[in-house]
Amino acid sequence: MNDRPIGFFDSGVGGTSVWKEVIELLPHENTIYLADSKYAPYGRKSKQQIIELCIKNTEYLLSQNCKLIAIPCNTATTNAISYLRANYDVPFIGIEPAIKPAALKSDTKKIGILATRGTLSSELFNKTQKEFTQDVNTIEIVGTGIVELIEAGKTDSEEMQDLLISITEPFMISGIDYLVLGCSHYPYIKEMLQELLPARVRIIDSGAAVARQTLNILKSQNLINLNTAPGKHLLYSNLKTDVLDALTQEIANREVQLLDF
Ligand code: SIN
Repeated sequence: MNDRPIGFFDSGVGGTSVWKEVIELLPHENTIYLADSKYAPYGRKSKQQIIELCIKNTEYLLSQNCKLIAIPCNTATTNAISYLRANYDVPFIGIEPAIKPAALKSDTKKIGILATRGTLSSELFNKTQKEFTQDVNTIEIVGTGIVELIEAGKTDSEEMQDLLISITEPFMISGIDYLVLGCSHYPYIKEMLQELLPARVRIIDSGAAVARQTLNILKSQNLINLNTAPGKHLLYSNLKTDVLDALTQEIANREVQLLDF
């Protein structure tokens, strides 16, 4: 049945930036977003722990009859998507830092990458980086503390501003002209980053690419929902937070449903 929902999971609110892009591109699809907020952040966990959390989330979404699972979490994608694809019979869409377009477009041949430790140390990230940045210098920074502040509803705070001033210092002196956001939470701080960085620096994230890829997979596997009514959107979480509540109201016009998963 093509009206089965598209499932999403992330360690918390970050992936909602991608969820919004998918809903905009595919307004007739039903969706379920699973925010594994109790276990955020994933970026500080071991590969084995991340895989176990991803299995738990996948099994929940499959129990809800999802026809496709999108993982708008860089840490989960880079550490667990191969395992999930090998073990579950449902299409998975991951998110990866947009290293390739940044490397191709860079004039200074210097690009910055801001991501979690879990993403930067993953095999998949290192493989992608080797493949696309042979003639480009990359400056990689771990965004320690950013996810925690966003999850705590402090996205626009002075605390965030101070943290970003210290985190972006190496980017300021390195001459980068592209900054790749390698964590799905980071689009929520894009404006603040843009104000802190020199105007020549373009900031890119992967949300639109995930939305396009979702459309392509649904088409190629004949999974498009042909209903013309607007889709229904649910957000489940295992932890109630103000920031999740606010985003759910904004995106799905309803409250977060609290579940034990
Ligand atoms: C995290 O949970 O640490 C961040 C999620 C991401 O990597 O996109």
